[in-house]
Amino acid sequence: MCGIVGYIGHREAYPVIVKGLKRLEYRGYDSAGIALINHGMKLYKKKGKVADLEESIVGKDVQGHIGIGHTRWATHGEPSDRNAHPHLSNDGSLSMIHNGIIENYALIKQDLIKKGYTFSSDTDTEVLLNFIQDIKQNNNSTLEEALRVALKRIVGAYCILLIDQNDPDTIIAARKGSPLVIGIGKGEHFLASDATPIIEYTKEVVYVNDYEIAIVKADEIILKNLGNEKQTPFITKLDMELATIEKGGYDHFMLKEIYEQPDTIFDCLRGRLLTHSGEIRMAGIDNNLETLCNAQRIVIVACGTSWHAGLIAEYIFEELCRIPVEVEYASEFRYRNPVINEGDVIIAISQSGETADTLVALESAKEKGAFIFGVVNAVGSSIARISHAGAYTHAGPEIGVASTKAFTGQLAVLTMMALKIAQAKGTITHERYSLLMKELEAIPEKVKEILADTSHIKAIAEKYKDAPDALFLGRGFNFPVALEGALKLKEISYIHAEGYPAAEMKHGPIALVTEELPVVFVATKDSYYEKIVSNVQEIKARKGMVIAVATNGDTVIPGMANDTMFVPDADELVAPLLSTIPLQLLSYYVGVAKGYNVDMPRNLAKSVTVE
Ligand code: G6P
Repeated sequence: MCGIVGYIGHREAYPVIVKGLKRLEYRGYDSAGIALINHGMKLYKKKGKVADLEESIVGKDVQGHIGIGHTRWATHGEPSDRNAHPHLSNDGSLSMIHNGIIENYALIKQDLIKKGYTFSSDTDTEVLLNFIQDIKQNNNSTLEEALRVALKRIVGAYCILLIDQNDPDTIIAARKGSPLVIGIGKGEHFLASDATPIIEYTKEVVYVNDYEIAIVKADEIILKNLGNEKQTPFITKLDMELATIEKGGYDHFMLKEIYEQPDTIFDCLRGRLLTHSGEIRMAGIDNNLETLCNAQRIVIVACGTSWHAGLIAEYIFEELCRIPVEVEYASEFRYRNPVINEGDVIIAISQSGETADTLVALESAKEKGAFIFGVVNAVGSSIARISHAGAYTHAGPEIGVASTKAFTGQLAVLTMMALKIAQAKGTITHERYSLLMKELEAIPEKVKEILADTSHIKAIAEKYKDAPDALFLGRGFNFPVALEGALKLKEISYIHAEGYPAAEMKHGPIALVTEELPVVFVATKDSYYEKIVSNVQEIKARKGMVIAVATNGDTVIPGMANDTMFVPDADELVAPLLSTIPLQLLSYYVGVAKGYNVDMPRNLAKSVTVE
C-alpha cells in the first residue's frame, strides 16, 4: 500500500504531485507528505488526508520543478506528522519516500545508532534512508552507487523515490515487490505507484521491474539492474481514459463503480462471448487449452473479495469441468509449504494485480513448476506480468476501496473460462453450454434492471443501519455471495457481519438470533431453493429479522421476509452476478446513512502491498 508520486520537468512540481496523491489515496490515507527541491530541500508532512496536507501548506513556499510525494498506510509507527513520508537523512541532504516493508530494519537501525545516527520517526524508511547516506559517505560514492549497495543488503519489499538537494536534476527510483510506473512527457517525467496520476499528462509509460533502479532526469531515463548493467526501457501505451478515474457526478466512487457494472460486465464479455457462433474467444486460454484441460487440480489463490470470486469459481469449475478445485487464502497458501504437483494449475485472482500475499504465493508456486493463470483487473500489474497466461477483467480502474465492479468482472471471466474448458473437455452438453452462454450474455441488461430503482434498498439500509451485528446466509453458488455481502458491510459500515452457509447456521450462529439481529438471506430460485426456504423458517421461528435477496416473481420468500430485495431470474450458475448487486448497494447505503467515508473506510487500503 502507500501511494507515491514524483515529478521532474518544466512544470511546477507541487500541483502535479498533490493531484497525483489524491488519485492514489485509495492506497492509503492516514498521512501524507511532499518534498521539493528549490534552493534546498523543502519538506511538508501531515497526519490525515492529502487535503489536510494541502491545507497545512497554504501560504508556504511550494515552488520547484522536482519533487516527491507520499500518501501512507501505516506499517511501522502510528499515523502521525513525524511518521509521514518523505523522510530526511541525518545530514539533511537526502529525502525519500517508500512503499513496502524493510524486514531487517531493526538490525540496521542498531548499527546506525551506534554510529551516532538519530531518528525522528518510527519508520523502517528513515532507517533505509540513513543507511544509504552512511554508505554514500563512507564509500565516498555516488547516491546511485550507495543505493545499489544498500538495496543488496536489505530484506523486504520496496518502491522508493529518492532526491538529493545537491543534485536537483535527478530522481532516483527503485523497486522490488511494490509497483512503479514512469510517465514520459516532453522534457518531463512523472513517477507513480500506478498510472492514474500520469494519465492526464501522457499515455506513454515505462513499468519498472523488480530489482531495477531508474535514474530519472527531465529529458532522460536510465534503467539499470542491481548489477549496474543498463536495461532497455520498454515503452507501453496506456489504454485508459481520464473519465474512468473521476467521479463523474456520483457522490462516491463506490456508487459510480456499482452503477458501471452493466457496462463493465459487457466490456468483459465483448469480443469473447460470441453467442452467434457458439464460441468463447480468450487468447490466454486458447493458447494453453491443453494445459488447462489436463489440469489434475486447480488451486485458486486470492485475498479479500477476489477470494470470494474464487469460491464461486470453485463451484462453477467443479460443476462444469469436473476438475477438483481448492481455493486458498494467498497468505496461508504461501506460508504452509503447500503440495504442488506437476499438472496443477494455479489461478490467481486479483483486482490490483499487486497484492503482496498473492504475488509472493505465485512466485513460490511458479518456482515449484506450477502453471499460473492470472485473472487480473489492472493491466500491466505485477501479477499480470508474473503469470504464464491470463485474462483481464476489463472493469477499468476501481477507486473505491471496497471492490464491486472488479468482483463481477472476475465472475464473468471465470465463468467464461470454465465454459470454454468444459466444452473442450466434453464435460458439458451442447445444450447447457449454449444456454449458459445466453444466460451470461443477458447479465448486463439484468444488472441494469436491478439498478433502475434502488430506493427500496436505500430504505432497507436506513431501517437497519443501527444494528450492531448482521448474519449473511446462502447456499451453493450463493454461499460465497453471502460471504461477500458480509465483507462489504463490515468494510463500509463497520457493522460486525458474518457470512455462513445457510445450512451450517444451525451448528452455531443460530444462537445469535434475536429479535434484533438482521439475517440477510441470499435466497434466489435455484436448486437449493426449497432448502433455503426451510432455513428462513428456522430464523423466523426464532423471531429473527429477515432481509432477503429473492427472485422477481417469487412470493414464498418475500412472504416470510421482513424486507426483500428482488433480482431477475437467472440460471443458478450465473446468479451470483445478480444477487451480489443488492448487497453492494445495501452496504453502500448503510455506510452513507451512518455518515462514513465509504470510498476510504478506516484502516483499509485498496492495494495491499505488504505481506
Ligand atoms: C484489499 C482490498 C479488498 C481486496 C483485497 C484483495 O484488502 O481492500 O477490496 O479484495 O485487497 O485485493 P486484490 O487487488 O488482490 O483483488
